[in-house]
Amino acid sequence: MSSISQTVQNRDVRQLGINPNHWYVVARSTEVTTQPIGVIIWQQAIALYRDSQGQIHALEDRCPHRQVKLSHGQAIADELECAYHGWRFNSVGECVAVPYLAANQKLPNCQIRHYPVKEQDGFIWLFPGDIEPVTEPLGLPEWEHLNYIATVAVIKCNAHYSYLIENLMDMYHGHLHQDLQAWAQATLQDIDEDANRVDAHYQAQSYYKIDKIWSISQLFFPALRRLHPEPLDVSYIYPHWVSTLGKDFKIYCLLCPVNETQTKAYLIHFTSLNAFWRLHKLPIWFRRFIKNSLFGAAQKLLDGLVIQDVQMIEEEQQAYLQNPQRRNYELNRALVSVQRLMKDRVDLL
Ligand code: FES
Ligand SMILES: [Fe+2]
Repeated sequence: MSSISQTVQNRDVRQLGINPNHWYVVARSTEVTTQPIGVIIWQQAIALYRDSQGQIHALEDRCPHRQVKLSHGQAIADELECAYHGWRFNSVGECVAVPYLAANQKLPNCQIRHYPVKEQDGFIWLFPGDIEPVTEPLGLPEWEHLNYIATVAVIKCNAHYSYLIENLMDMYHGHLHQDLQAWAQATLQDIDEDANRVDAHYQAQSYYKIDKIWSISQLFFPALRRLHPEPLDVSYIYPHWVSTLGKDFKIYCLLCPVNETQTKAYLIHFTSLNAFWRLHKLPIWFRRFIKNSLFGAAQKLLDGLVIQDVQMIEEEQQAYLQNPQRRNYELNRALVSVQRLMKDRVDLL
């Protein structure tokens, strides 16, 4: 290990930056229309808008004329028009029109930054790095797949992203969610790790078995749930998180770290209908109808989990700000691996 990487490894994980050379999720597809929205990824304010062809664009959220937010403006054809004096910017951030330009004046030579952005699997993925992206966004193959029912919850917490990732990787915190009956009695079995990811394999008890057509109602009625053993795998695939509990559940957490003490993330839960082979023989339109009708089936469960987790995560952050020198006691070695990965990714810069 070089002396520089030693310095990073010694660095306080709660003050780490992000590695910008990854795809982050900044919004849901449905949030972005021709009316721009402002989002923030690691202190960078970005205006997202959809052009007349439905294409998404991401520009620095700053009009170079007077430095106001471009996200207050509107999309006109492929361009973004500032609300204040109506200057317009194309999708690569060049000023292309000023409504009151005199005949003897030239367009100002001002350009703002634009970002690589993709719309995929229901979300807007943005690459905040300065280099050309060489990777693809993490895929959510279940999003369009007819055998999966999706539920989406938004996490907004006043805490560094490391607290959220540690919460998601430490399955011993099932204790916190007892009333929601998500999982129980987790035991860490082993960990696989490399330069990009940490996979922690737990054995746990699951309350859910989705094998009868009525099983889906376990999401609404706790009395129908029965404990049984299932593998519980959680993976930190930098900078996002994925988990599977047995065959019936898959959960993603897609991150958008805002700054050192704020994190936004999207939690996407998929319930599998794979066990219902009879259902798979039905016409596509009907299967799509079922998928769409059941969208959000796990909303209450997911929102409940988020409220409980966010409270703990924010308390950790507050305690840290009051006593940054205080050390935690860590018994879960998956968290040691996760901290190492977070530091390594920043170390690469
Ligand atoms: S501040 Fe944007 S056009 Fe003037
Ligand atoms: Fe949790």
